[in-house]
Amino acid sequence: MRNILVTNALPYANGPIHMGHLLGYIQADIWVRAMRAMGHEVTYVCADDAHGTAIMLRAEANGISPEAQIANVQKEHIRDFDGFGVHFDHYDSTNSAENKARSEEIYIKNREAGNIAVRPVTQLFDPEKGMFLSDRFIKGTCPKCKAEDQYGDSCEVCGTTYNATELLNPKSTLSGAAPVEKSSDHYFFKLPNFAEYLQKWTRDEGRLPVSIANKLDEWFDNGLNDWDISRDAPYFGFEIPDAPNKYFYVWVDAPIGYMSSFENYVKTKRPDLSFDDYWKKDSKNEVYHFIGKDIVYFHALFWPAMLEGANYRTPSGLFVNGFLTVNGQKMSKSRGTFIKAETYLEHLNPEYLRYYFASKLSDKVEDSDLNLDDFVQKVNSDLVGKVVNIASRCAKFINTKFDNKLSAACAEPELVQSFIDAGDSIAKAYEAREFSAAIREIMALADRANQYIDEKKPWALAKQEGQEQQVHDVCSVGINLFRQLAVYLAPVLPTLAAQVQDFLKLESFDFASAQTILVDHEIALFQPLMQRVDPKAVAAMVDASKDSLAAAAEPAKVEKKKEKKVEKKPEPKVGEAEIIGIEDFMKVDLRVAEVLDAATVEGSDKLLQLTLNVGEAEPRNVFSGIREFYQPEDLKGKLVVMVANLAPRKMRFGISNGMVLAAGNGEGFWVISPESGAKAGDKVS
Ligand code: MSP
Ligand code: ZN
Repeated sequence: MRNILVTNALPYANGPIHMGHLLGYIQADIWVRAMRAMGHEVTYVCADDAHGTAIMLRAEANGISPEAQIANVQKEHIRDFDGFGVHFDHYDSTNSAENKARSEEIYIKNREAGNIAVRPVTQLFDPEKGMFLSDRFIKGTCPKCKAEDQYGDSCEVCGTTYNATELLNPKSTLSGAAPVEKSSDHYFFKLPNFAEYLQKWTRDEGRLPVSIANKLDEWFDNGLNDWDISRDAPYFGFEIPDAPNKYFYVWVDAPIGYMSSFENYVKTKRPDLSFDDYWKKDSKNEVYHFIGKDIVYFHALFWPAMLEGANYRTPSGLFVNGFLTVNGQKMSKSRGTFIKAETYLEHLNPEYLRYYFASKLSDKVEDSDLNLDDFVQKVNSDLVGKVVNIASRCAKFINTKFDNKLSAACAEPELVQSFIDAGDSIAKAYEAREFSAAIREIMALADRANQYIDEKKPWALAKQEGQEQQVHDVCSVGINLFRQLAVYLAPVLPTLAAQVQDFLKLESFDFASAQTILVDHEIALFQPLMQRVDPKAVAAMVDASKDSLAAAAEPAKVEKKKEKKVEKKPEPKVGEAEIIGIEDFMKVDLRVAEVLDAATVEGSDKLLQLTLNVGEAEPRNVFSGIREFYQPEDLKGKLVVMVANLAPRKMRFGISNGMVLAAGNGEGFWVISPESGAKAGDKVS
């Protein structure tokens, strides 16, 4: 038996839990449940990340104290996690007395070890608000392209990065005042002291996904920098010992929240556990942090360095999840795909989502897509169509004809045994966080169970005379197979598993308990276990997530589009177009191109994506607005004419490198194609 402490990234206390968050929390919860089902002692804690400027300002905007703000959000977070079956042993806040004490201790130990430096830093300061401004709170004109209204770190229009002090005409987004430069002392954690230690640490077996360790090498190559760990008042956080009006930057006390949440758990609920057993330097117990890929830097560099500097153990490993997209794109309030946990729960069963995520997750740091059509299809076909179906096909006979009792002997011991034997490899897949592999194995078993029932047809046997025993035997085998599947799915579907456990009247539902075959065993009356996903409920959820305010909050883009429309000249009639000279026409490089591939574009009903051979080394990618008139197959292999020297155009779906000529009259489009004999790359004149 292993003793394991598992944590999830601590969600910020300034906003609601959404689908993106849930990917990581559900992943960790499944792993915790699976490890427990294998007999390990697992403690699972989390907390709200309560400090920082954003939370302070959110409270101010809401007209409440930061303490009231974080208390409200914490209630919502706990409610949402609960709703999705994410069951923490303890859920705390980083704004706790224990976290304050622990943060001070870790800081002081590092200071004593020579890992803290102090030096002045000049930053932009809002004289009206009386506070220093991080880049996020400064906007101005881009020094490079002169685009207005750009943030203090980089320009969204031309992509240049710069220092906030280089912005032209800078303004504080908090007060509108022009910021002034001001100097003040800052406290630094001397990360370079740990360069060698970290380089080794990140390569330790099992510590990090290899792809992440490789990425970190780039940082090591560039050299580590001191980390600025102080913020001047006003700041919602913990004051730094012996440094009045200086506060710990939120990322100092946030991971320490993992320790203090566990400490409070032990204190209040589990005096039999010991804090030191998990956190002292040579601890044999394991500690794993589940985090998203955006916060690796903090967890793989600063966090182990702070712990090492304070003589604590470091995490055994970081489990890193990629990001979630919905319908192939970043979650968006205007498209209704920024789906809050709360909104989902108003429309759909949480176990659908747990199953869908499980079917996608592996130990790789890969992004996952929640495609809502696929979601409906997969849940309905796998869970309802395959798994639950087995029970509903067999249970009614046991309930009505055989007095709720399974057969006294198993008619297919080999078949049931093969399901039992599969448990090992399924457990291993869970342990390795290869959930999608586990689900694939379980569904293959479900297919076999259904095949068996389809072959035996108990409903037909039941109509024949003298087949009573056969019906009893087949349905008892079916129920046994179903029981194996339910046990294997229990980490993913805890609610369904609990219902099945009641239905089968079983004392235990862990993996070891399922080593036996149920014979002469009494079951309860079958109750419907899971309904099909109603696509209308999904549509209603998306509708409820649509934020008309969010659409209005993007006025710059909307206005620009409108302006363009007004400016656009009407299409000239034949003979009415502007006369140009031959020099102008010669500037256009027209070429014959061969369509190597044509494909539809997810998220667009207007575009086809064309891969064109223009006689160059690399094929060209071109988006063409002809989707309504051509199927991809119609174009593959065809010769077309393209403008080859059009400036590349960045579109939502990628970069378009040229344009295909087509004739059009408003009712249709006909791609212009040279007669046979022409070759890809030929000039058209
Ligand atoms: N407060 C920090 C973590 C501190 S840990 C000591 C934080 N909070 S967060 O609320 O922004 O994110 C919480 C978790 O959700 C992080 O692991 C983050 O990576 C994850 N995700 C947030 N949006 C996500 C997606 N769209 N997709 C997947 N995970 C995402 O970061
Ligand atoms: Zn710019």
